[in-house]
Amino acid sequence: MSAKIKLDAANLGAVINRNIYGHFSEHLGRCIYGGLFVGKDSPIPNVNGMRTDVVEALKHIKVPVLRWPGGCFADEYHWEDGVGPQESRKRMVNTNWGGVVEDNSFGTHEFLELCGQLGCEPYINANVGSGTVREMAEWVEYLNSEGDSTVVKKRWANGRKDPWNVKYWGVGNESWGCGGNMRPEYYADEFRRYNTYCRNYGANRLFRIACGPNADDWNWTEVLMKNAAYHCDAITLHYYTLPTNDWSHKGSATEFTAAEYYATLKHTRKMETLLDGHLAIMDKHDPAHKVGLIVDEWGTWYDVEPGTNPGFLYQQNTMRDAMVAAFNLNLFNSHADRVVMANIAQTVNVLQAVVLTDGDQMVLTPTYHVFDLFKAHQDAQLVPVTVACNQVETLPQVNASASLKDGVLTVTAANIAADKAEKVVLDIENFDAKQVSVRILTGDICAKNTFEDQHAVEIRDFTGFEVTDEGVVLTLPACAVAEITVRG
Ligand code: AHR
Repeated sequence: MSAKIKLDAANLGAVINRNIYGHFSEHLGRCIYGGLFVGKDSPIPNVNGMRTDVVEALKHIKVPVLRWPGGCFADEYHWEDGVGPQESRKRMVNTNWGGVVEDNSFGTHEFLELCGQLGCEPYINANVGSGTVREMAEWVEYLNSEGDSTVVKKRWANGRKDPWNVKYWGVGNESWGCGGNMRPEYYADEFRRYNTYCRNYGANRLFRIACGPNADDWNWTEVLMKNAAYHCDAITLHYYTLPTNDWSHKGSATEFTAAEYYATLKHTRKMETLLDGHLAIMDKHDPAHKVGLIVDEWGTWYDVEPGTNPGFLYQQNTMRDAMVAAFNLNLFNSHADRVVMANIAQTVNVLQAVVLTDGDQMVLTPTYHVFDLFKAHQDAQLVPVTVACNQVETLPQVNASASLKDGVLTVTAANIAADKAEKVVLDIENFDAKQVSVRILTGDICAKNTFEDQHAVEIRDFTGFEVTDEGVVLTLPACAVAEITVRG
């Protein structure tokens, strides 16, 4: 049978929060240093130290929100080390990631400069594990207060008069692990204590984010929702996709078999189970949906590229990653009533990066192109879909989601089969499809872009469709992601 994607344009769901298309940038490997930030004196073209090529690329996919400074790094980060004159900034060893010296040349002002250039919201993840309540409270004050206090005067002295009014505020990262190895009962109390002193300044209301579970730790969600839901706006979820179930042998990012490809997609599908499970617990404690879920670390995690620092988590990116991205983004869209943000790990040169750099060169990965294909969903209204399709290796061959904005219907669909094209019928009710256009990303499962061949995998316009009585009919090539735009 062919695949059928059925939707009713008069049946609208929640607004898809643009922040679902968010990113994560940690002081890890070459994500910040070399990837996003090269410093004002670099020969690499930059504006105030931010690499121009990378900023322009990220603007093109409309990065809506950027999470920083970690990750595990966040719970060893002391913000005051990263403000003030560069020459007096404290040097530390990044014990989490490669044991390299962190000179703090990229700090609060630089991060907010980057967000300003990208036109995105900052999401700052503060230190609970090795920090203090006072330190966190003063960071919020430094960022957001206009008052004539010593802390604010320090901001003025460092060259910034106006408050930044940062909204998204994370209280600890992975507090069940690298952020302090806490039990959920203890963390829930710590969250309440730290959160109490994170003040709202002026009209800015902090969006308070509590550290949620690791993967399927249902008990963490249960305890956190029971004890802290009233105090927070969202809780987080972290889940990484590995080809294997073995963290010591994850497998290569680029050299893999079809069996490993499908194993990776099976593992990424677990995200569906995780969302359903955690959202059910959240529904029990918060039926009014006041608390959102933020998947602020997701993506693939492979063995590092041969010859690179194991602590830098540098991996290449193929069409397999594109399929993982499409599956997860379609899933997040479909849960837009509760999933209010997601942040792929990590923006540049780390894990499932959208951009890779080498000196002054930059490569856009297949995952980057998926974010490009999906960007029309940002702030659009979800149109729930049902997908009837064949199974391949026990997985649904086609996954999809749809949204409506300004009278334009966008459907994103992926054919995960490694070697089998599939006829797909888009059956749309209550919409007069007058004009259709399709953009597509497709290639061999191992296809990738490299510094030598930067355009091997790219989006192209696709004309292999027709509008019939059945609906919009197209044949999706094997291993393909498509954006189908339908105008009435
Ligand atoms: O993204 C890499 C690391 O994965 C993060 O620092 C941590 O939060 C997670 O375990």
